[in-house]
Amino acid sequence: MEKLEQLYEGKAKKVFKTDNPNEFIIEYKDDATAFNGEVKGSIGGKGIINNKMTGVVFTMLEEKGIPTHFVKILSENEQLVKAVTIFPLEVIIRNTAAGSICKRLGLEEGLKLKSPIFEFCYKNDDFGDPVINDYHAIAMELATAEEIEVIREMTFKINEILKAYFLEKGINLVDFKIEFGKTNDGQIVLADEISPDTCRFWDVETNEKLDKDRFRRNLGNIEEAYEEMLKRVQA
Ligand code: C5P
Repeated sequence: MEKLEQLYEGKAKKVFKTDNPNEFIIEYKDDATAFNGEVKGSIGGKGIINNKMTGVVFTMLEEKGIPTHFVKILSENEQLVKAVTIFPLEVIIRNTAAGSICKRLGLEEGLKLKSPIFEFCYKNDDFGDPVINDYHAIAMELATAEEIEVIREMTFKINEILKAYFLEKGINLVDFKIEFGKTNDGQIVLADEISPDTCRFWDVETNEKLDKDRFRRNLGNIEEAYEEMLKRVQA
């Protein structure tokens, strides 16, 4: 398999074509941004950690019946994935209130939500990834009603699996963002990544934040938090 031209460069990853039309290579970067690119920086070793952690978590999810784009790890910061067209939707689940929902709705950080909140954001940097609902997504042709149902059902299943998985590792899964894509043969699969960049992970005992909030909020020990999370998923 050969790495061909770059298709896309995002804030944290690059995507490359391969000589197989059904497979892409994703290269994870150390670059970090926050608040829609207003704060830029780098987290040492992040690309390697997020590549490895996504590999472990996506493999676990596949074993539990969730179809994903993950094929295999290729190197420290590269993985082979199925070629997909990404839905321009950020799919968010919140189990505990934190981050933007606290600002938006006046909820106190750490409030345990009575039931998980499902949100869609329109993936568009120019508009700061605004929160939308099903009606926007369907009307703007971001996904069909049927596709949204598949995505929603898979997302709640993923949340149940991930909550239990991380709890066993002493982690409260506060919230997370996932993305979905469509393969060349029309299957909807979990894509993108699951890492401290895209989830809020709080230690169950101490409530210590082991995720990108350490970068967003300048809390220090960022690399250590990412390394700790990798250690826990590899245990
Ligand atoms: O910022 P907010 O509270 O809306 O984030 C909710 C969850 O989605 C967090 O786990 C955050 O890391 C993730 N997220 C993300 N990429 C974005 C926005 C949020 O991974 N562009």
